[in-house]
Amino acid sequence: MRLKVIACNGSPNVNGNTAYALKVVSSVLENHGIETEILQVGSALISPCSGCRACAKTGMCAITGDDLNLWIRKLEDADGIILGSPVYFAGIASPMKCFLDRAFYILSRDRKLRGKIGAAVVAVRRSGGSAAYDNLMRYLSYSEMLIATGSYWTIIHGRDPGEAREDIEGNDSLTILAENMVWALRIREEAFPVHPCPDTPQRRIMSFIR
Ligand SMILES: Cc1cc2nc3c(=O)[nH]c(=O)nc-3n(C[C@H](O)[C@H](O)[C@H](O)COP(=O)(O)O)c2cc1C
Repeated sequence: MRLKVIACNGSPNVNGNTAYALKVVSSVLENHGIETEILQVGSALISPCSGCRACAKTGMCAITGDDLNLWIRKLEDADGIILGSPVYFAGIASPMKCFLDRAFYILSRDRKLRGKIGAAVVAVRRSGGSAAYDNLMRYLSYSEMLIATGSYWTIIHGRDPGEAREDIEGNDSLTILAENMVWALRIREEAFPVHPCPDTPQRRIMSFIR
């Protein structure tokens, strides 16, 4: 079966700079025979997490009216995930945060993403790129994913849609990330039958109050 990567675009701009960055990475993956799909998260009306924790019992989000439960299944079935967001006030865009809080709370709880290959890209006009990048990385690392990286933390610069195309070094970073991601996916594919995820002790949840 073909390897598959899901790329999540957290920008409301379907053809903006984040979309461009994800397409640069996806096209390299496709050239290597890896299937890609972009989830257009940023222009969907996604409710924030209500904190009800019903998902702990059902494995699904209790909030209806958006595509989150459908998208969760896609992430669960993928071999790799790329998170992409524009930088808004030195952080990630709000629809992306709503999506990630709900999706990763569910998926990481049951360790559904453990050992998959993760990557992050951000689009920024000027400043705040690494804060947003770090923010995306925290979802991947919390979920025990294996991280693919480019150089200079895959932050691409541009304001209006299409401007990111002119950021030469940013484009090179994205290509490096894409090739490294292909490499990691291939290593994972070959190695996992021999070296599956290790057994680990049960994590003991502690809230510092008892
Ligand atoms: C609400 C809002 C907040 C923004 N905040 C920042 C910021 O903190 N730093 C920055 O350099 N650019 C900021 N920008 C510019 C975007 O990050 C930039 O235009 C980016 O390329 C947009 O990506 P997109 O085309 O994928 O939507 C902001 C844009 C908007 C609309």
